[in-house]
Amino acid sequence: MTVEFFRHSITKDDIERVETVLKSIFLTTGEVVKEFENELQRYLEVKNVIGVTSCTAGLQLSLLAWGIGKGDEVITTPMSFCSTANAVLHVGATPIFVDVEEATGNINAELVEDKITKNTKAILPVHLYGQMCDMKRLRKIADQYGLIVIEDAAHCIEGTRDGIRTGQLGDAACFSFYATKNITSGEGGAIAVNSIEKAELLRMLRLHGMDKSAADRYTKRYQHWDMPVLGWKYNMDNIHAALLVGQMRRIDQLWERRNQIWNMYEERLRGLSGIGILETLPNSRHARHLFPVIVPPEERDSVLWGLQNKGIGVAVNFRAIHLLRYYKETFGYKEGDFPCAEKIGSGTISLPLYPALKDEEVDYVAKTLIDVMNR
Ligand SMILES: Cc1ncc(COP(=O)(O)O)c(C=O)c1O
Repeated sequence: MTVEFFRHSITKDDIERVETVLKSIFLTTGEVVKEFENELQRYLEVKNVIGVTSCTAGLQLSLLAWGIGKGDEVITTPMSFCSTANAVLHVGATPIFVDVEEATGNINAELVEDKITKNTKAILPVHLYGQMCDMKRLRKIADQYGLIVIEDAAHCIEGTRDGIRTGQLGDAACFSFYATKNITSGEGGAIAVNSIEKAELLRMLRLHGMDKSAADRYTKRYQHWDMPVLGWKYNMDNIHAALLVGQMRRIDQLWERRNQIWNMYEERLRGLSGIGILETLPNSRHARHLFPVIVPPEERDSVLWGLQNKGIGVAVNFRAIHLLRYYKETFGYKEGDFPCAEKIGSGTISLPLYPALKDEEVDYVAKTLIDVMNR
């Protein structure tokens, strides 16, 4: 049996929506992007959503929108994709890592205050694997010290915690529609932001800093534009947005199936020696983006190869950022600096988790993992 790591859930209707755009005259940022932004905005119950080309671009623009740059520090987590900390470096600021909770892999809010200095400007938490961080606590700390909070919500559109959604307590939250994400357009991203002024600024920053988009300039009569600020070229286009509109409308249905699969994995794997499963907190609706098992570090690679030899696609999400070569060489990080992140980073293996996965495939993956580990 072959079980791919990921198969998308794009339907005939989604493809027809793209076809409609391709047959129209207007391919770049226009009505369809607006339609998608409105869908996401309604779902998250936030005031503004801005479509961009990736979550990384969203993080970078959000940091820029709050004027974060050289000499500034941003508190974040080493247990994430390198994109999170890279975005901080892209604006010239310094990522300051705080270790994670062993139970969830999310930034340990208890440890944040100790890392705040006079240069700290922001906290950048990551809702790892789809479970939200303690946003209430982080918001409180941020308000106490005058910091902003930018959420890396690449894994978490559907999650809630204490009744709060992503984008509701953060100053900005950034989402990813990369090829293996819960909804996908191959590449893509969005920023949710509640401040109308920041939303206007972000709309300019995603398009060179221009005060009029192509739709403003060309759909009616030509209008002159100005460039009040220096921006980047990160605007989402109508083609990508067309793929996302229908997925957004089915998002809870897609989540239901992933949640079922998650429960099947838990039933089959929880409690087996050598197979760790992170906790889902009772006050949390987990977005069920990734299903990682944590195996003993010395067995990780043999389990990875063992599963692949049996036709099962796997991934490692993630090796801790501070131990990646660039971060070690640039900042002098070493093993032992963030023990909980390292424990997850050295043992984690993501199993296939997507709505198209069949029950018998879930059985096969779980059974093969147990066989490969000889448990
Ligand atoms: C936690 C996290 N943050 C950010 C990103 C970056 O997303 P994108 O590829 O849309 O830039 C990813 C992508 O995998 C991610 O997993």
